[in-house]
Amino acid sequence: MVCLGNICRSPMAEVILKDKLKKINSKSIVESRGFVPFHQGDFADSRAQQTARQKGIDLSKHKASLFKVTDFDNFDKIFVMDQQNYSDVASIARNENDLKKVELLLNIVEPGKNKIVPDPYYGGNEGFVKVWDMIDNACEIIVEKFETND
Ligand code: 4NP
Repeated sequence: MVCLGNICRSPMAEVILKDKLKKINSKSIVESRGFVPFHQGDFADSRAQQTARQKGIDLSKHKASLFKVTDFDNFDKIFVMDQQNYSDVASIARNENDLKKVELLLNIVEPGKNKIVPDPYYGGNEGFVKVWDMIDNACEIIVEKFETND
């Protein structure tokens, strides 16, 4: 899961998807990354932590980290929140195989629509709840799509 700061959207996406995977005993690995260094090593934004807490999920242990080229080797899917994140990740893709792992998260919900998960950083708490619900819906579909034995 990739966003810009790795303190709001992608950390929420990470714990949401992890929570769903844990419930089905999946061994799939989920991590999150950002692209700007300002928040490296920081905890998730307090509003993201609060939203998670309200939803019954712990987001207190997250530490922000940067996307690196080896992430292309370590993960099968790279979900990004918006076009900026897509361009950032695509800019360091080494080949077609790297590039085809990258997808806008909400294209899982509405394929080809290229809708974005908006950055809630400059808004209030309600923006975080809205974004949480959008991500939660997408993660539900990810589990259905990638975790079934067909
Ligand atoms: P995020 O939100 O990408 O959802 O973690 C942001 C948080 C901080 C900044 C950018 C986006 N920032 O530039 O400080």
